[in-house]
Amino acid sequence: MIAIGCDHGGINIKNAVIEYMKENSFEFHDFGCYTTGSVDYPEYAYKVAKSVADGEAEFGIICCGTGIGVSMAANKVKGIRAAVCTDEFCAEMTRRHNNANIMCMGGRVISEEKAVKLASIFLNTPFDGGRHENRVNMITAIENGTFDTKH
Ligand code: RB5
Repeated sequence: MIAIGCDHGGINIKNAVIEYMKENSFEFHDFGCYTTGSVDYPEYAYKVAKSVADGEAEFGIICCGTGIGVSMAANKVKGIRAAVCTDEFCAEMTRRHNNANIMCMGGRVISEEKAVKLASIFLNTPFDGGRHENRVNMITAIENGTFDTKH
């Protein structure tokens, strides 16, 4: 299942990604918002992040004006690795190298077409593992307060 959410600044690209997920038979839960009225983005970022952190959703996609505010909020939830993506390369690499579990995008930054393209890359690219696994584990150690600096 894919958790998806947005604020008013990201609702246009969120709806485009939802159409893509419907057309491609992705199971998803839309945590809102559902209208263009002004709302507070941390609310929606938290709902998506919690769903991913709890293991209910495999991945999350969150959209706001820039993608930045929702990424900051989502990354405060334990277990979340949320990445702001604005191009295809970053959407691919944040899965392959960072094992990102949430992608954040900005409706005032990228087009609906680009958002769909980035979502399709993010949702279909596996983690490379190997040396990257160790690095991702180091991020988790920082989060847990157990990180041991080597240098
Ligand atoms: C809302 O105006 C805007 O601040 C929000 O969508 C987002 O860009 C915050 O990071």
